[in-house]
Amino acid sequence: MRILFVCLGNICRSPAADGVLAHIIKEKNLEDQFIVDSAGTSAYHAGEPADKRMREHAFRRGYLLSSISRGFRASDFENFDLILAMDKSNYKNILKLDPAGKYRTKVELFCDYCSAEYASLEEVPDPYYGGARGFEEVLDIVENGVAGILKKYGH
Ligand code: 4NP
Repeated sequence: MRILFVCLGNICRSPAADGVLAHIIKEKNLEDQFIVDSAGTSAYHAGEPADKRMREHAFRRGYLLSSISRGFRASDFENFDLILAMDKSNYKNILKLDPAGKYRTKVELFCDYCSAEYASLEEVPDPYYGGARGFEEVLDIVENGVAGILKKYGH
């Protein structure tokens, strides 16, 4: 199972999801069953590590975020089985790159994997211009959704 998380800058939300899922996969010895990566619909921060604030908040929960930002590319449609957009704008922008709709069923919203506690949540809020609370909120949602992903795919 190859899973790609996609946000706007690939420095906050998708690196958090990538790091949390990779951490649990390692903990459960499932490394031979999953490939996890992240990308941004914008390549504005390409080459950069995850945002320092995101890394610090994640580290306090025991996660090392080691992603280097990159833009989403058309080849990702072939190279991944599941492409999870962190918000609706990311979702739309990914689908725009697939005008024929060939890969449409591979693209979903991350929040669709969250439990009933987040039933009304459609998007992972962008923490970039906010404070510490926003980063903690991203991690709360990401931990919940990642558990949903593992549950759905049998772990
Ligand atoms: P992300 O957050 O999409 O979760 O990585 C953002 C990062 C950078 C910007 C916006 C959102 N930015 O405008 O540079």
